Amino acid sequence: MGTDKQVSPQTTIRVRDLQMRYGEKDVLKSVNFEAKRGEVVVLLGPNGAGKSTTIEILEGFRMRSAGEVEILGQDPAHGNEQWRARIGVVLQSWRDHSRWRVRELLDHLGKYYEPYSTAERKRPLDTDTLIGLVGLQEQSNQMLASLSGGQRRRMDVAIGLIGNPELLFLDEPTVGFDPKARRDFHDVIHGLSDLEDTTILLTTHDLDEAEKLGDRIIILAGGTIVADGSADQLAREASSKAEVRWTQGRKRHVHPTSDATAYVRKLLADNPTGISELEVRHASLEDTYMTIVQQHELPQPTPQQTKGGKS
Ligand SMILES: Nc1ncnc2c1ncn2[C@@H]1O[C@H](COP(=O)(O)OP(=O)(O)OP(=O)(O)O)[C@@H](O)[C@H]1O
Ligand SMILES: [Mg+2]
Repeated sequence: MGTDKQVSPQTTIRVRDLQMRYGEKDVLKSVNFEAKRGEVVVLLGPNGAGKSTTIEILEGFRMRSAGEVEILGQDPAHGNEQWRARIGVVLQSWRDHSRWRVRELLDHLGKYYEPYSTAERKRPLDTDTLIGLVGLQEQSNQMLASLSGGQRRRMDVAIGLIGNPELLFLDEPTVGFDPKARRDFHDVIHGLSDLEDTTILLTTHDLDEAEKLGDRIIILAGGTIVADGSADQLAREASSKAEVRWTQGRKRHVHPTSDATAYVRKLLADNPTGISELEVRHASLEDTYMTIVQQHELPQPTPQQTKGGKS
């Protein structure tokens, strides 16, 4: 990281000691993270952890209680129209515009972005291209109120993308997507990140999706970021153990080990014949997530409880 004052233009999101209190309740106690240009960051955490709250603060939709936030070099609390035009947003629930038709609304919203088109980033995206990207060709003349749940969600994603954003916030974008729509969406995200250098911060409860999409995973629990790294890095932090499984004779064996290669080498050397169905299984992101979140959700033991020997 650079010095305190100098922010690299590569840093699109910068969050320091972010706090949010609703009434008496401290939802965000001290949230710290950054995201670089072109990075896909997946924000995970249990229901009520404060993911939507965080995203809404970063988008400038919600005023924070304390802390520093810098989004594309600006404090979102004071972001102007030009700043807003560089950002795409898909909220967790968005149920307006019901009487508009798909193509009409995208054309209409797209006009808003025209003045902000640059040589580097053409704005808005072409309506038909966008409709194709989210697979709504057959519904393009339907009213939003008549779309199915998954189709409506695809429309939300289209609205988030229309301004060809440099930074895209997606709060549970794939809820209700069928497997094909989900896969197409993953391709869109990879394309935006690889080809357009779009920075993406998204939340999901689908850990398989998180693993597929995220260059980095951050986990929010107990009001702070409790893990930050690639899925592999988190797995190594949470548990260094892999499982070696094999069949010998008619018996299935499972052995946890921190050095699977050495273990397998010795196993095969000791048993030159008779070993079959050998596999090495590393912790999935789900295993890792459960371990990390459980550690941070357990109530902190008071000194008395610790003495009692229960932890
Ligand atoms: N406007 C509000 N007033 C009071 N409490 C709120 C408000 N908005 C959210 N909360 C509370 O803040 C906490 C965090 O909510 P938030 O919606 O950010 O969670 P989340 O991580 O997005 O959860 P989910 O996975 O269910 O979407 C919850 O306990 C919620 O009840
Ligand atoms: Mg939420």
